[in-house]
Amino acid sequence: MTSPAVQAAGAAANPHHSADMRRVSLRVNGKPYSAEVESRTTLVDFLRHSLLLTGTHVGCEHGVCGACTILIDGRSARSCLTLAVQVEGCDITTIEGLANADGSLSILQQAFSEKHGLQCGFCTPGMLTTLSEFLRDHPAPSEQQVREAISGNLCRCTGYQGIVEAALLAASRIAAGGR
Ligand code: FES
Ligand code: FES
Repeated sequence: MTSPAVQAAGAAANPHHSADMRRVSLRVNGKPYSAEVESRTTLVDFLRHSLLLTGTHVGCEHGVCGACTILIDGRSARSCLTLAVQVEGCDITTIEGLANADGSLSILQQAFSEKHGLQCGFCTPGMLTTLSEFLRDHPAPSEQQVREAISGNLCRCTGYQGIVEAALLAASRIAAGGR
């Protein structure tokens, strides 16, 4: 059994008892932000609660479902497994940053709409950020490559078929010169 003295020492060291605040400065969807955050704040909570960018979803909160996927300096990452203080100075892209500058849907978003790549939409922000990176790096993917690319993103609704067809349609349109 833990002695009262050890319990008291543990309580004194408990980070929940005194918040360790840090300043984090970063760019999100091209816009600069600077804010004080608790050092234990996850990036997804920072995006949703501090910056009010609620398009990034929170599912499992331990790296399994992919709903929270965002891009950090162009690379996909789980924002539930990343601390806000870890992205100091980084460029973050969220679902809110994927549309074209005039607000119209990107080619990938349009393809999701046409091919029924979403139903409830919970997985969709993570699917779109994941596939944005994938199509940038694999401009002429096979169906199998698309399926592997989204294998870390869970969808409880679509059976994935519409998502795969949307990614392949977007790839063909991008190859044809679309943006
Ligand atoms: S909420 Fe991050 S992987 Fe599920
Ligand atoms: S559309 Fe519902 S979880 Fe994918």
